Amino acid sequence: MDSLVIQGGMKLRGSIAVNGAKNAALPIMAAALLSDEPSLIRGVPDLQDVRSQIALLTGLGAAVLRQKDGALEIRVRDQSQSHAPYDLVRKMRAGICVLGPLLARRGRARVSMPGGCAIGDRPVDLHLRGLAALGARIRLANGDIVATAKRLRGAEIFLGGNFGSTVLGTANVMCAATLARGQTVIEGAACEPETVDLANYLNAMGARITGQGTPRLIIEGVRELHGCEYRVIPDRIEAGTFLVAAAISRGELRLQNVRLDHLVAVIDKLRQIGVRVEKCNGGVHVAAPQRLQPGTITTQPYPGFPTDLQAQFMALLALAHGNSIITEKIFPDRFLHVAELARLGARVHREGATVMVEGQPKLIAAPVMASDLRASAALVLAGLAAQGVTVVHRVYHIDRGYERIEKRLNQAGARIQRVDQAETE
Ligand code: EPZ
Repeated sequence: MDSLVIQGGMKLRGSIAVNGAKNAALPIMAAALLSDEPSLIRGVPDLQDVRSQIALLTGLGAAVLRQKDGALEIRVRDQSQSHAPYDLVRKMRAGICVLGPLLARRGRARVSMPGGCAIGDRPVDLHLRGLAALGARIRLANGDIVATAKRLRGAEIFLGGNFGSTVLGTANVMCAATLARGQTVIEGAACEPETVDLANYLNAMGARITGQGTPRLIIEGVRELHGCEYRVIPDRIEAGTFLVAAAISRGELRLQNVRLDHLVAVIDKLRQIGVRVEKCNGGVHVAAPQRLQPGTITTQPYPGFPTDLQAQFMALLALAHGNSIITEKIFPDRFLHVAELARLGARVHREGATVMVEGQPKLIAAPVMASDLRASAALVLAGLAAQGVTVVHRVYHIDRGYERIEKRLNQAGARIQRVDQAETE
């Protein structure tokens, strides 16, 4: 198991290109199961989660090929399998995205029920209610969701839950509705850019979806979908992580392949706390201030501040001049990074779904443990700023969502070394 050894105090300078979005690519890959013709998907990052999704699709009869130019070709060869087993879904929750496509195209799906994970309970009740409204029969058997339907039929469906809309639930129901008989209206749909990207990909395959990017999706069912070529959007969470990297290291970066319109809440927050963020040729330029102001952050569904950047901003605000308040409204237990940041000297006090961050002039290096993807990113960011050498253990979490993060940060002046964990114990 690898660790990252980070020499703190290096100012980042230079340029980093942002990759295609993991959370757009994973549901799009699953949606390729809806057609017998091949999809050529560009901009899919080379990540552990993508490799897990490839393994899942391969087990479901798809031939998945990474071409020389990096594009991913997915072609369904065999429709006889419809079981997404525990071993694969357990590793990566986006495995649940095959449920809607399998049900719509093959009339049956058996997908292991994802359990809880480091960021909370993560139920799938809304996914199941939406599919049931389309006419699927759903039961649980030995920890698997078993869904069957001859042909789904359009329906009016409300997908809002206690914590807002559901991103992957919207993906599942939208995919299933593309091949249903008649019209489906999803109210309370997720508006995240990744959901819009999936709708655009489905439309490129011949689906008839309108309203993407709004809480009301209208899907006119079609008999079949065809192959297509598609490029996934840039990763707004990776971009946000690098913006914080520049700010926390007191450096300056230019990011390329960025959609600023997907980062409005994030850039607004950075500017409020004193970070300079400006649009520049083909990207964005970010520069750290002398003095970081404290701030108030509440995570919300898009276009609000994303939960997937909450941990990274906590690391940044730990170094602000004053007290900040961070409230998590999507995953109220997503705070495993709090205790680890405290090991680096951050003054963080949690009360339920809120953390008070008492800004400090410095962080001091320490060994810390990565617990989930974004928490790991926050620890790497804190390590960039901490005095001394920080070791982040169990970085396989970070490899699930960031491609070679240490190499890309090192190209901009960071000093991060990847070592086998045994060497650091
Ligand atoms: C997606 O997860 C992302 N994952 C998450 O990113 C992201 O944090 C999350 O959306 C919110 O933006 C992928 O895209 C692969 P939700 P998802 O269903 O779709 C509740 C990362 O770090 N809910 O939108 O699983 C749920 O508990 C990951 O890249 C129900 O109550 O999240 C939460 O409170 C982590 N019932 C809220 O809705 C349901 O059936 C939003 O969750 C489904 C969800």
